[in-house]
Amino acid sequence: MPATKRTSKKTTKPKTTKKAPATSSAKAGQKSRKMPPGKKTLAFDIGGSGLKVTVLDENGEMLTERVRVDTPHPCPPGLLLDKLREMLAKLPSFDRVSVGFPGVVRHGKTLSCVNLGSDEWNGFDLQTAIATLTGRPALVINDADMQGLGAIKGNGVELVITLGTGVGSALFEDGRLAPHIELAHIPFRKGETYEEQLGNRAFKKVGKREWNKRLEKAIEYFRILTNFDKLYLGGGNAENVTLKFGPDVEIVCNTMGMLGGIWLWKDANLDDGVQK
Ligand code: BGC
Repeated sequence: MPATKRTSKKTTKPKTTKKAPATSSAKAGQKSRKMPPGKKTLAFDIGGSGLKVTVLDENGEMLTERVRVDTPHPCPPGLLLDKLREMLAKLPSFDRVSVGFPGVVRHGKTLSCVNLGSDEWNGFDLQTAIATLTGRPALVINDADMQGLGAIKGNGVELVITLGTGVGSALFEDGRLAPHIELAHIPFRKGETYEEQLGNRAFKKVGKREWNKRLEKAIEYFRILTNFDKLYLGGGNAENVTLKFGPDVEIVCNTMGMLGGIWLWKDANLDDGVQK
């Protein structure tokens, strides 16, 4: 199981988002770079617009520059795995894999995904496929859940909303991840869902001002729905949030998705991943 109570989080929190310097060896696959001891985690963030991958050390430090390629459209499982294989060639070795997927995931299987444009995701065993491809144990969860694991403090009710191509949501209590909540595709206003009103397509269509007004309204509803103690706003469009907040709302940077990759393994039994 990922993230249970994280009473130790204060002392063991991964060291945020510092990037490894862009050395030529990093670009050439880190062949000459000395790796620190401890488990190295490949963190793979599957986004609607970009596929991002990096290797983190046991403290969550990026050991290499993040590799990013555009997400193909449509992006069925076979093509995604081809892209991952290409990106791996540019990365140093790792011991295990954490994957954030932009749709519903249950026990490593993807149940649905709106933003990758392929029905082949309905019931695909991505966890086994990635473990087989990499030869390492793998854990796959929803992308907002993974981002949330990196963002939260572990106190009280914490809600994480990611604002990117899609709208991601994750809920935690005292550091424990709740069953995944999918706010994206439920009705919000004017007959449209949260994602239709607040996803990137809507942002581009209505502009920053109107999009922020909608977000303000959505936050009101999120408060009623969850009584959150803290709300984190992440994802690519978090930088376009112009609303002023009190201390219970925080904007978090996008690399949190990657850091969550460490927390995912924190309480995992190796059997939770799939060892091939
Ligand atoms: C999906 C969510 C995902 C979000 C962000 C939505 O369309 O339904 O599961 O977390 O996009 O990628």
